[in-house]
Amino acid sequence: MCGIVGYVGEQEAWPIIFEGLRRLEYRGYDSAGIAIIGPQGDIQLRKTVGKVNGLDESGDHPLGSVGLGHTRWATHGRPSYANAHPHTDCEQRIAVVHNGIVENYLELKRRLADAGHVFESETDSEVLTHLVEEGMDRGLSFQEAFRRMGRMVKGSQAISAVLQGDGAEICALRLGHAGGIVVAQADGQAMIGSDLPALLPLLQSESNMGQVSFLDTGEMVVVTRDGVEYQDLEGNHIDKQPRMVSQEEVQVDKAGYRHFMLKEIMEQPQAVASAMRERVNFETRRVDLPDFPLSSQEIAELDRVILIGCGTSLHAAQVGRHLVERYGGLPAEAESASEFRYRDPYISPRTLVVAIGQSGETADTVAAMQMVKDKGGRLVTICNAEGSQASRIADGSLYMRAGIEIGVASTKTFLASLTILNLLAIFLGQSRGFLDTAKSQELVDGLAQAPRLIGELLADSAVYQHLAQEYVGTDYFLFLGRGVNAPIASEGSLKLKEISYVHAEAYPAGEMKHGPIALIDNDMVTVALAPKDSLYEKVVNNVREVKARDGRVLAVLTEGDTQLAAAVDHALYIPEAPEHLIPLLTTVPLQMLAYHIALLLDRDVDQPRNLAKSVTVE
Ligand code: AGP
Repeated sequence: MCGIVGYVGEQEAWPIIFEGLRRLEYRGYDSAGIAIIGPQGDIQLRKTVGKVNGLDESGDHPLGSVGLGHTRWATHGRPSYANAHPHTDCEQRIAVVHNGIVENYLELKRRLADAGHVFESETDSEVLTHLVEEGMDRGLSFQEAFRRMGRMVKGSQAISAVLQGDGAEICALRLGHAGGIVVAQADGQAMIGSDLPALLPLLQSESNMGQVSFLDTGEMVVVTRDGVEYQDLEGNHIDKQPRMVSQEEVQVDKAGYRHFMLKEIMEQPQAVASAMRERVNFETRRVDLPDFPLSSQEIAELDRVILIGCGTSLHAAQVGRHLVERYGGLPAEAESASEFRYRDPYISPRTLVVAIGQSGETADTVAAMQMVKDKGGRLVTICNAEGSQASRIADGSLYMRAGIEIGVASTKTFLASLTILNLLAIFLGQSRGFLDTAKSQELVDGLAQAPRLIGELLADSAVYQHLAQEYVGTDYFLFLGRGVNAPIASEGSLKLKEISYVHAEAYPAGEMKHGPIALIDNDMVTVALAPKDSLYEKVVNNVREVKARDGRVLAVLTEGDTQLAAAVDHALYIPEAPEHLIPLLTTVPLQMLAYHIALLLDRDVDQPRNLAKSVTVE
């Protein structure tokens, strides 16, 4: 996902924008650029392919107190100097940056080229520059030309542009479900950014923490030395109230860990505890979800629950489906948001859709949510970002409260999702009379143990480092799990793939004999999730099928399971726990195994190649 940072003020813009871009590095990117309005009002443009530091290494930092920067995650056109943003017009009157996809860029580009515009890049984004230029050539002001451009493009995007000259003028707009634009004002200065961490240079002091506003879709902001003005795309004024943001939302650092991902794995006990805060009464041992938007009557009338998400959030949805059926007493299904949005599902006011997403900005998830709203379904989101698109579309938000997650690989937000899905299932079961008091109290008692049990798994990483040494160099992993652990097998496979680039796939263990068993040989490593749960014996059979064909098996077992331990090549252990906790526990060894294998392979763990923290393009 691309990153945008702009500054208007009295200080030198270059270091402020550079620092802002650095704080957006977690989003993933492959090139970067900064445009500064110099003392003579001219646009000074610097771009680099690769890391943001490439902008700094030359030491050539143009002077000026207004500027716009960008980190690009390539969608149209490979990473190159020409394709890096900002894109300027031929007279260098304006510089434009973009996050998202211009869906109608080909027809726009064809018309503009026929009208004599010369394109220098392969990107869709460059048409934005030429549209603003065309508007100004027709006599429109910069703001009018920028609004006209916003009305002409299709698709979800965030766009910003800066105008040359003595004044100071940055425009930015948001369309559709793309990653947002956040605006901060302090001490006569203003910044725009794709995300709160980009604004840290301006939000260093507590006194400035409150002056933050988020653009909604179809909104535009104009930043000048006189302040900030919000408009719609027709130029009508919009009133926006700044909201308080916490230091934690803005501050991001590794706290001494080598990677954000490791820090966030180690934060999981707190993340799980935080997800339960004010939602579990440990006195009465009952769940209460004050943020749940349906009344008791509406809950009683529900006849179906659909859980959706992408990537790791899809795996959470798949676990949630089991929990809702088992403890909520409702028919439930789970589906990838990217598939669900293109089905024509039957949705009624008695359908509850639960959209899961760490960022709350994943384009497929947000678009699927919009479809549910359009069809009259009830919509709840489990997400980690207040003010996100998802939290604005849903009828209600169950926030993960996991704290900002920087590592591209989702970890603590996954366990926070699983915790909230447990709470939701119990809450539905309580409310519908499906769970008696004793059962719901038993489930709550189990959840109360989760932070401690997860902490035990993280107390000593030596076992994970040892097994990573044992298995690094393996070219192919097959992850197997059953029931509520089948999605955990998928999650373990995804973690390994996305940070170590090693091929891995996951199957429900019962599916193995229907094809994948043909893959088994001594080079193949099978990671089998075989905790002592209701399907344990079935997984034992699968493990024996693998071993009978000389396959190597790394099993995740319940402590004390010496019998199965003797039958496999290596074992990782989880503490004995009630069944609804097991997915939170089996996940942790798989996260740590993936992390340590990626370390040994010297991968860019926090920003793996080709990936972005939030996929706001479709
Ligand atoms: C998971 O480690 C990846 N970062 C990715 O699959 C992610 O889960 C997916 O893109 C969905 O993101 P979201 O939770 O922010 O919607």
